[in-house]
Amino acid sequence: GKNSMWGGRFAAGPAAIMEDINASIGFDQKLYRQDIQGSKAHATMLAEVGILTAEDRDTIIKGLTQIGEEIEHGHFTFSRALEDIHMNVEARLRELIGDAAGRLHTARSRNDQIATDTKLYVRAAIDGIDAALADLQKALAKKALEYAGTVMPGFTHLQSAQPVTFGHHLLAYVEMVNRDRGRFQDARKRLNESPLGAAALAGTSFPIDRKMTAEALDFDRPTANSLDSVSDRDYALETLAAASILSMHLSRFAEEIVIWSSAQFQFIQLSDALTTGSSIMPQKKNPDAAELVRAKIGRVMGAFTALMTVMKGLPMAYAKDMQEDKEPIFDALETLELSIAATTGMVRDMVPNAKALKKAAGSGYATATDLADWLVRVLNMPFRDAHHVTGTLVGMAAERKVDLHKLSLDEMQSVEPRITEDVYSVLSVDKSVRSRLSYGGTAPQNVRKQARKWLRQLS
Ligand code: ARG
Repeated sequence: GKNSMWGGRFAAGPAAIMEDINASIGFDQKLYRQDIQGSKAHATMLAEVGILTAEDRDTIIKGLTQIGEEIEHGHFTFSRALEDIHMNVEARLRELIGDAAGRLHTARSRNDQIATDTKLYVRAAIDGIDAALADLQKALAKKALEYAGTVMPGFTHLQSAQPVTFGHHLLAYVEMVNRDRGRFQDARKRLNESPLGAAALAGTSFPIDRKMTAEALDFDRPTANSLDSVSDRDYALETLAAASILSMHLSRFAEEIVIWSSAQFQFIQLSDALTTGSSIMPQKKNPDAAELVRAKIGRVMGAFTALMTVMKGLPMAYAKDMQEDKEPIFDALETLELSIAATTGMVRDMVPNAKALKKAAGSGYATATDLADWLVRVLNMPFRDAHHVTGTLVGMAAERKVDLHKLSLDEMQSVEPRITEDVYSVLSVDKSVRSRLSYGGTAPQNVRKQARKWLRQLS
C-alpha cells in the first residue's frame, strides 16, 4: 500500500526492492533513545512557544515514554515499510494517542531529526570511550609504578637498542592514549551544536526556539546555518579519525603483547582469562584477545574510509547517501569500546617475567651506547670517535660470541689503551637505566615520578 507518512502524492506503493534498499530500521533502531529524547525536547519547545497546546504536549510526551519502554522491553514491532526509527516511533505514537501525534512533526524534518539523533549517539559514545580510556591509563600507570625498575630491552628496528624499564614502556602508551583522549574531546567540542530546528534544509516559518531545544539536549548552542546543519557529518568523520588513530595505538600495543607472550620471548605472562587454548596442541595458550585488538583497526579505519567516501561528492544539503553513515559509525565505536576493555584487561592481568626481561636487556650489546658515553665522559673523546672505538669492541665481542662485559681489560685496551677497570661499571643494564635521568628518560626514579603523577591526575 501507499506510505502512510509521505504517500500523499503517490498513486502506488514502493516496489519490494525499493523498500529493501531504503529501509534503515534494521540498524537505526539503535537510535530509539536519542530519537525519543529529541522528540520530547521538540514537543516541549513547541508548547513553550505556543505551537502545541499543553495538553497535546503532555499526551505526546506520555506516549513517547511508553514507546521507549516498549522498545526497551522488546515489545515493539518495528516495521520495514515505515523505513526508519523516526517513522516507526511516530506511527506508534499515532496508534497510542491519535491525531495529536501528527502535530509533533511541525517545524521539524527527518533531516534535522537524524542529524540530532546521530550526534547524540556519537557524543555518548565519545563519553563512554573517554571513561574507558581513563581506566586503561590507570591500569597502565599502576603497572608502570609496580615495574618502574624492571629492566627490559628497548628496541629500534626490533633490534636490541638500549635497556629501558617495563614501567617506562607502559607509560609511553599512557601518553599516546592521552593524546587520543584529547582528539576525542576536540571532536566533541565541535560536535556539540544542535541541528534540531534546521528542519529539512532551510529552517522554518514557525516561531521556534532552537536555543531551548539545544539546551534541553545538552548542546552548547544551536547550529548557525540550516543547510550545514542537515548535511554535516564532519563530527562523525572526526570521531572516526580519532578512533582510527586510537586503534592504531591499541594495535601496536597488541602486537607487542603477541610478541612478548611468545615462547621465544617470554617477556610477559598473560592470564588464562584473556587467552585461549588449542583443540589440537595441548601446550598452547594463545593471545587471541591481543590478536583481535590488533585486527579491529581494520574495521575502524574501514569505517572512516567508508564514510569519507560516502560524503565526498554530496552537494548540499541532505541526500539519502547519508543514511549509509550509521552502520560504520555504530560498528566502529562499538568495536572500539570492546578493544579498549580487552586491552585494559590484559594490562591488569599481565605479569612481566623480570628474569627473562633482564637477560634479554643485556644481550645484543644493548649497553654499547653506555660504553661510548663513558669514553666521552671519562676520556673526553669526541662522541663520533667513541662510537667508532665502541663499534670495534662490539665487533670483537661478536667474533668471540660473548657480551661486552666479558671482554677482558687487555682486550679493551688493545683497542683504546686509556680504558680503565671503571668501564665495567657502566656495562650493567641496571646501571644503564639508572643513568638515564634526563627529563622523560627511562631511569626508574623518573618512571616512578611519572607514574605517580598520572595516577594522581587520573584519580
Ligand atoms: N533514515 C534517514 C537517514 O538515516 C533519515 C532522514 C531521511 N530523510 C529523508 N528526507 N528521506 O538519513
